[in-house]
Amino acid sequence: MKIMHSTNKKSLLLLIISAFLMLVLVGCSGSKAQEEEPMNTGLDPNEWNNLAFKDKFPLHWESYMKNMENEKEVLPKNDPSIEPLLPIVWNGFGFAVEYNLTRGHTYAFEDQMNVRRITGNPNAVSACMSCKTTVFPAMIEEFGPERAYKLNYHDEALPWLEEFAGDDKGMMTDGKGNVAEWGHASVGCATCHDPVTMELRISLPQLTDALDRLGFDYENATQHDMRSLVCAQCHVEYYFDPLNDLQTTFPWGYGLTFEDQWEYSEYQASREGGFKGEYVSTISNTPILKAQHPEYELWSYGPHQTVSCADCHMPYQRVDGKKKISSHRWGSPLVTIEESCRTCHGDKSATYLETRVEDIQDRHKVQLLRAQDIGATAHYYVNRMITRGVDEEKIKEAQSLVREGQWFWDMPAAENSYGFHNPDGAMASFARSIDKSQEAILVATRALMAIGEDIEELERQIEITKQNVINETVSHEKHKQAINDWFPNVRDN
Ligand code: HEC
Ligand code: HEC
Ligand code: HEC
Ligand code: HEC
Repeated sequence: MKIMHSTNKKSLLLLIISAFLMLVLVGCSGSKAQEEEPMNTGLDPNEWNNLAFKDKFPLHWESYMKNMENEKEVLPKNDPSIEPLLPIVWNGFGFAVEYNLTRGHTYAFEDQMNVRRITGNPNAVSACMSCKTTVFPAMIEEFGPERAYKLNYHDEALPWLEEFAGDDKGMMTDGKGNVAEWGHASVGCATCHDPVTMELRISLPQLTDALDRLGFDYENATQHDMRSLVCAQCHVEYYFDPLNDLQTTFPWGYGLTFEDQWEYSEYQASREGGFKGEYVSTISNTPILKAQHPEYELWSYGPHQTVSCADCHMPYQRVDGKKKISSHRWGSPLVTIEESCRTCHGDKSATYLETRVEDIQDRHKVQLLRAQDIGATAHYYVNRMITRGVDEEKIKEAQSLVREGQWFWDMPAAENSYGFHNPDGAMASFARSIDKSQEAILVATRALMAIGEDIEELERQIEITKQNVINETVSHEKHKQAINDWFPNVRDN
């Protein structure tokens, strides 16, 4: 016993000594790392104004200001050359009226304030701002999470914002015009960086909440994880949860794949007072889940999941002759193929890589348009079931298939890489969409034939209606062409 005891004592001593040595070693390397980056900008820890960072980081500012130059023409997305049938599949929702291609982060807030979906909607809520402005965390601070997301956009949020951040606090040197209108408060430095240490951070609670639900330990996220997580604050699917004060919520309870998000959304819809969808279709009277830019999720199960968003979209670039910084111009990595892609794919030429991306995107577009077309047809078949008064159960069955078909089309369609981030994931989604919409058409066809409906005539009317939508030249008038005497508005409310 005694011997045992002393041995224990000895090993305990050894343990203490080695633990002490470890501490010294860790401590040393720790302070060495600290020596390299004792960043203290001297800025307010709550700084939100992009202009406050301008003089401290002139090279980053210069790069950031490149977001003011559009890479592509900002066309309405329902242009016949892009997605011609959006005004049908989204009929009854603001997106059917105006929805444009993206442009730079500096414009995000201004573009939102001016889009018809906001200007034409007196009931818009402040949750819409939650991925557009560096000021949103301050709004949560001011109103608390219970109120911050459900303020009236026009009557409550804008007046407060005007007062809090309306002018640039005298920081603009050349009057208006050096950043976009509201560019000083648009997606910016404080969204992704701690203003004092400049370490990457998550500033929007909708992401930390979602990661909590997944059990992801973001407090200990690696730098590599952070280079994608900062983007996941916004480049994701979300909804405003009626069971939680309309807070911006990501449907990630079961995982990130489109299939997982569908299951989770259906679970939410089944709850009393739970979220059923963004709108009810005027054509098929179906509650619809409107997908929003799920870049992070599609990427997360694709071939480049080990490559961070910043690796491709914010490559190191030599500026100012010799210094290397992370590019802060967020756009197409094809513009920076050398720095974005050939760092890993050095054995492939830039042309080869570009062609591979185009191949993927071309295949994607074919299936996207096919799924959209069949989905639009399915809405009209359900419309006919309703106006002909077929069996209620059959209508419900077809509506639920339309809802599923639309989700699995909309997720990869709303994703902005045209499938590059995950070609297989996107294809699987379109395949399921086409299946479900076709099933809806089949259910409808059977029910309609049983009461003697002329299916060929129905098909003809659908084709003419689609053409009318395509031929209408005024983008925000197109949705009106989707409803006519053949296919009236059948929405309940
Ligand atoms: C606070 C929200 C937010 C964060 C964080 C964010 N984005 Fe964005 N991003 C947007 C919005 C909103 C737009 C569309 C702006 C518009 O069209 O006015 C956008 C547009 C883009 C575009 C298209 C730009 C163009 O010229 O068409 C790219 C690329 C992009 N973001 C990449 C990223 C990457 C990569 C990250 C992370 C490093 C990131 N974003 C972080 C909100 C965000
Ligand atoms: C959408 C997110 C995002 C926004 C907005 C953003 N940054 Fe960054 N920034 C990053 C990422 C990601 C890195 C790379 C960090 C790393 O891996 O160490 C970075 C790196 C930096 C660095 C470190 C040096 C370097 O180049 O890697 C500085 C300094 C910096 N950013 C300044 C700014 C300033 C100033 C603004 C506003 C004008 C800004 N950033 C806006 C995401 C962002
Ligand atoms: C392996 C490189 C790579 C990675 C990693 C990557 N992307 Fe992309 N991304 C691309 C390419 C290539 C495109 C297509 C560009 C084009 O069509 O010109 C693209 C397109 C986009 C677009 C649309 C740009 C536009 O002009 O409208 C957005 C937004 C975007 N990515 C965000 C992200 C986010 C967020 C992440 C991380 C979750 C991410 N990307 C990860 C390569 C990458
Ligand atoms: C950090 C390294 C890295 C970077 C940066 C990177 N890739 Fe890749 N890429 C990979 C790896 C690793 C794979 C293989 C993945 C696998 O086998 O599943 C891959 C696969 C691919 C593939 C085949 C994917 C498929 O669908 O099967 C293409 C095409 C590709 N990369 C293009 C690009 C382009 C274009 C860029 C720049 C926009 C880029 N990569 C940037 C590492 C990278």
